[in-house]
Amino acid sequence: MTQKKKLIVSIVGARPQFIKLASLTPTISRKFNHVIVHSGQHYDLMMSDIFFQQLEIPKADYNLAVGSGNHGAMTGMIMSRFEALLMKLRPDMVLVYGDTNSTLSGALTAAKLQIPVGHVEAGLRSFRMDMPEEVNRRLTDHVARILFCPTAQAVKNLKNEGIRKEVILSGDLMYELIDHYREKITDNTGVLASFEVERQKYLLMTMHRAGNVDSYENIRQIVNILSELNRVVIFPIHPRTKKNLTRFGFSRKLKSLPHIKLVEPVSYLDNLSLINFAEAVLTDSGGIQKEAVALGTPCLTLRDETEWIETLNRGNHLVGLSEKKIMRNLKGLQRSGRKNSCKIRGRKPSEIITSTILSFFRDI
Ligand code: UD1
Repeated sequence: MTQKKKLIVSIVGARPQFIKLASLTPTISRKFNHVIVHSGQHYDLMMSDIFFQQLEIPKADYNLAVGSGNHGAMTGMIMSRFEALLMKLRPDMVLVYGDTNSTLSGALTAAKLQIPVGHVEAGLRSFRMDMPEEVNRRLTDHVARILFCPTAQAVKNLKNEGIRKEVILSGDLMYELIDHYREKITDNTGVLASFEVERQKYLLMTMHRAGNVDSYENIRQIVNILSELNRVVIFPIHPRTKKNLTRFGFSRKLKSLPHIKLVEPVSYLDNLSLINFAEAVLTDSGGIQKEAVALGTPCLTLRDETEWIETLNRGNHLVGLSEKKIMRNLKGLQRSGRKNSCKIRGRKPSEIITSTILSFFRDI
């Protein structure tokens, strides 16, 4: 007798989650009934829809349409809408991804309904509780039943917090996705023409962390740094950063700098190609640090710490918002030449995650 497929609900809401979902969906959908719920945390065409179209993710089955808001309001609203949906669907497991407000809301809601939670990208730590993402990931890890860790350090972090059961070293779904699209990324030279830049003759900059962009002082410092850079900089601007540049009165100054190309957020493939062809990347994003390393492009991380410590001896440098460190690092730039350093060699993360969930149901 064939057994009915178990029902897995994935909840996502923000850009880095769409990327992980894209990597996992083809494999998990073969073994489970897989329902996708979009919280609505990111809702613009370029912040959300384009990822579903370009990465061929099936359209979300449900959209909770929460939009923007303060942390409490957003978390609470996702929880109340997701709870109503879970009570209707009664899934066998809920999968949450990464460290956003959608991750924590999804995990708490499911845990309280006694639905097992799987956390994809578990165990990462910045050891800074003033980052909203650190609060989200710590709490999520402590209510999850299965913890899928991308790195050995993540496994160690969980162990240090007393979490040892069902901790799986799955590898990194983001690297799996890069492997899948590697040729498209490296062949996409059209992106250079559309941004009017030449290979390795520009820097790519991204910035959105609350700790960096929510204060007047930091925004002022970022604009200072940008004005001092003696290179062309492509700067796809995150809505949060755009809002704060306007709020603190720095928009006009930034727009007046001839070497800064301020552009709207770009699609996944264009972003990866821009990383690939850049002389270096300046970023405060977690994902982009790894993507730069995977493509052999030097990365200057505009933070004082990173959850991805493995990247630090592979061309990633922590420079905070220090102009001096940035200038020094830009002088000594060297491409690692290890383009394939993050290639997945053994079993794919998507396969490990899917087969672990299958055995979880077999064992209970
Ligand atoms: C969120 C995540 C962060 C992740 C990032 C990826 C949290 C706490 N943070 O940060 O971990 O790295 O997404 O981008 O969950 N906005 C728009 N259009 C959109 C989406 C957002 O205009 O499509 C605006 C909103 O008005 C909001 C601001 O951008 O004020 C920030 O969005 P929010 O979801 O609060 O957090 P992010 O900074 O994007």
